[in-house]
Amino acid sequence: MSTIETATTAETATTEQRTCIIGAGSSGIAAARVLQERGIPFDCYELGDRVGGNWVFKNINGVSASYRSLHINTSRERMEFPDFPMPKRYPDFPRHDHIAEYFDSFVDHYGFRDSIRFETGVDRVGPRDDGRFDVRLSTGEQLVYSHVIVANGHHWDPRMPEPAFPGSEDFNGEQIHSHAYEDEKQLTGKDVVVLGVGNSGMDIAVDASYHAKNTYLAHRRGAHIVPKYLFGKPIDQIGGSERLPGPIRFWLMGLLVKMANGDPSKYGLKKPDHKLGHAHPTVSGRILDRLCHGAIKPKPNIESLGEDTVRFVDGTEVDADLVVYCTGYKITFPFFDEDFISAPDNRIDLYKYIFSPKVENLYFLGLVQPLGAIMPIAERQAELIAEHITGGYTLPAAGAMEHDISVKQQKMKRRYVASKRHTIQVDFDDYMKELRLELESCRPVARGGERPLTAAAV
Ligand SMILES: Cc1cc2nc3c(=O)[nH]c(=O)nc-3n(C[C@H](O)[C@H](O)[C@H](O)COP(=O)(O)OP(=O)(O)OC[C@H]3O[C@@H](n4cnc5c(N)ncnc54)[C@H](O)[C@@H]3O)c2cc1C
Ligand SMILES: NC(=O)c1ccc[n+]([C@@H]2O[C@H](COP(=O)([O-])OP(=O)(O)OC[C@H]3O[C@@H](n4cnc5c(N)ncnc54)[C@H](OP(=O)(O)O)[C@@H]3O)[C@@H](O)[C@H]2O)c1
Repeated sequence: MSTIETATTAETATTEQRTCIIGAGSSGIAAARVLQERGIPFDCYELGDRVGGNWVFKNINGVSASYRSLHINTSRERMEFPDFPMPKRYPDFPRHDHIAEYFDSFVDHYGFRDSIRFETGVDRVGPRDDGRFDVRLSTGEQLVYSHVIVANGHHWDPRMPEPAFPGSEDFNGEQIHSHAYEDEKQLTGKDVVVLGVGNSGMDIAVDASYHAKNTYLAHRRGAHIVPKYLFGKPIDQIGGSERLPGPIRFWLMGLLVKMANGDPSKYGLKKPDHKLGHAHPTVSGRILDRLCHGAIKPKPNIESLGEDTVRFVDGTEVDADLVVYCTGYKITFPFFDEDFISAPDNRIDLYKYIFSPKVENLYFLGLVQPLGAIMPIAERQAELIAEHITGGYTLPAAGAMEHDISVKQQKMKRRYVASKRHTIQVDFDDYMKELRLELESCRPVARGGERPLTAAAV
């Protein structure tokens, strides 16, 4: 379908039910597939010229965090859409281009490419008095949709250290966020300080250890370093099951990781102040090796920057040409007015991490930080959204949703290290089960029965 035809169809949506999907990353295409299968009319808009979002290196959308050396850290079999396995010729942890190719073939396989309008951004979404949404595109077109699915990703808006380190304004070298890292050319021959021990910090420190003059890895908190393999198997394929309770799963995994790697402090990193599973996992098969080789020098947090130096909180100081802040991301929706929907400090109140209790027919997809992969989750979330659009799934009253959200947030606060990176955490197996139970509950509701809240909600 041509661009013009799509736009015309959408304009007539003032009188029909039609859904707008924002973004054709892995979450957006999961929604498109489900909606197409159910015969739910939709249009999907994508800033870039191809699908795959974050996984398209040098994506013209300008917001992909991909770098040349990026491989997935959730294994192929955990990440693939269950009904569309990745090719067996792929390695266990494929590179970004394999993953982008896989998402591309997913769209062709299910045949909905014509429903995606490429190089077309959604610039604004606002509520209308009739309960639908005004949608303005980057082309200037004004459309009306009955439902909107937000799948714009949550790893594209860099969070720099807040506040900036003293002296950073006078630093002569370069300071970048990991989002701006593309490849080793940016590191070659330099004195590089990498800050943060999330997965970006791991990858970029390892890259730097091969290309930079010196590599320092600064961190304010210790992390358990989870290897990619245990017993010759991708670690995320061990022990994952809806039937094994989360606390037992993480206790067991913590034991196995300790047996495999020992204490991170043995490698010069800080001792973690939390148990495994109480922070987003840091997965790396290579960092410990590079630390042991002396190719990466561990440091505590940055205290300040000099003109050509970085000083750490233990009083040591090193020459520095480049500081790479691997300090995570903000959850942002540039197309909403802030007082309509926003996520200050990455906090957003959504029922089941999908539904706004305040705005009907507005859905958020892939807006979770799983201990596990996002893709199968996004697909199951999309199934629940489709049930809601078609009337098979009814939400509880706003008060009950708010209560459920608050209970979950308190649980998250008790379990996770206090950090802006831990506001939308879910355990893959437990959350998949929760979504499955919601889907299974659809039937009685469709018949007009009372739908009880799931156990997690009470
Ligand atoms: C470096 C890195 C590595 C990662 N590795 C893994 C991993 O191994 N496994 C894993 O499960 N997760 C990983 N993640 C998490 C990542 O968020 C997911 O892999 C995945 O990209 C989520 O897909 P998405 O569709 O939700 O978001 P994205 O991939 O970010 O896609 C969002 C899409 O929406 C489009 N878009 C945004 N705004 C608009 C707009 N206004 N109008 C139109 N289009 C718009 C964008 O162009 C983009 O194509 C990683 C994240 C990073 C940063
Ligand atoms: N496939 C892959 O291999 C891969 C590679 C990169 C990223 N990813 C994914 O991308 C997402 C983002 O990862 P990320 O590593 O970019 O971000 P992240 O997980 O949010 O980690 C941010 C790190 O920076 C630290 N930090 C934040 N602000 C700081 C400050 N002001 N001073 C000092 N330290 C600070 C955090 O410490 P605290 O814990 O103390 O807050 C944490 O160690 C995750 O889902 C991750 O799994 C995957």
